[in-house]
Amino acid sequence: MSSSGHRITHVSDTARWTALHRANESARPDALFSDPLAERLAGEHGRAIVDNAPWRQRSGWWLVARTKLIDDVIAEAIAAGCDRVLNLAAGLDTRPYRLELPPNLVWIEADLPQLLAEKTELLADQTPRCRLTRTAVDLIDPVARCAFLDEALDGASKALVLTEGLLMYLDDRDVVGLANAVKRPEVAWWMVNFTGPELKKTMNNRIAGMRQNAPFKFAPENGVAFFEELGWRTLEVQSLLAAAHRFRRLPLLMRPIAWLRQPDPRRPGRKPFAVVALLTH
Ligand SMILES: C[S@@+](CC[C@H](N)C(=O)[O-])C[C@H]1O[C@@H](n2cnc3c(N)ncnc32)[C@H](O)[C@@H]1O
Repeated sequence: MSSSGHRITHVSDTARWTALHRANESARPDALFSDPLAERLAGEHGRAIVDNAPWRQRSGWWLVARTKLIDDVIAEAIAAGCDRVLNLAAGLDTRPYRLELPPNLVWIEADLPQLLAEKTELLADQTPRCRLTRTAVDLIDPVARCAFLDEALDGASKALVLTEGLLMYLDDRDVVGLANAVKRPEVAWWMVNFTGPELKKTMNNRIAGMRQNAPFKFAPENGVAFFEELGWRTLEVQSLLAAAHRFRRLPLLMRPIAWLRQPDPRRPGRKPFAVVALLTH
């Protein structure tokens, strides 16, 4: 993983990119959330990735909407008795430091080793608001993933699993493997986000280094039905475009798209499609 330049040179650099968008949102007087550590974590590399993206990709409206929607789902899950959070591919997310959380809540972050080591160092002077631990694991390695889940879910009965900004970087077969692995009795909810085939093309063509080093792969033609066919049930699905419009974060030129009927979440077709979905089983 590189820590310089303006390109995405490894999939873990995408975590710097999303952190920078959280930093930018946090700096607004009308911020939808406050992530004071995001700037430090994104670093110069995160800023350079965003500064060098085409202007249409620079505002990060999709990331701001996604963050806010997932923050709200976490609060609702905790109110409904969630007793553990597993943030898979947590990247440089800082929710354990910035959300109001029960101090006894067990929160486990998983990601690739180098990224987690860097994050732990950068946050060494910070205290989380709950019981936070981190585990380095390659989430597409079935054996390592199974061992991780056995340990991470031990003693839980109503866990929330987050995979925010992960699935698009995986092959379909790895998403199937993950979907089956997470379907355990201790898991009450699985929060996913993904795009449709059209946005996959756009993203791979427009962000420097994306197509070569962290291409979008998973973008199911059948939207949430992909997960339903694997035994998951959709509790809630929200369009990021519609949410960004509601939150007043959609760039002016995109607003007319938000006035149109949003794509069918089970058949997005060629329309721009990016959603967060809360699943259960
Ligand atoms: C776009 S970032 C998302 C980070 C964070 N969830 C967020 O929303 O800001 C993608 C993350 O997936 C992680 N990742 C990609 N492939 C992975 C794998 N096979 N196992 C574990 N983590 C992985 C990367 O290291 C990176 O932190």
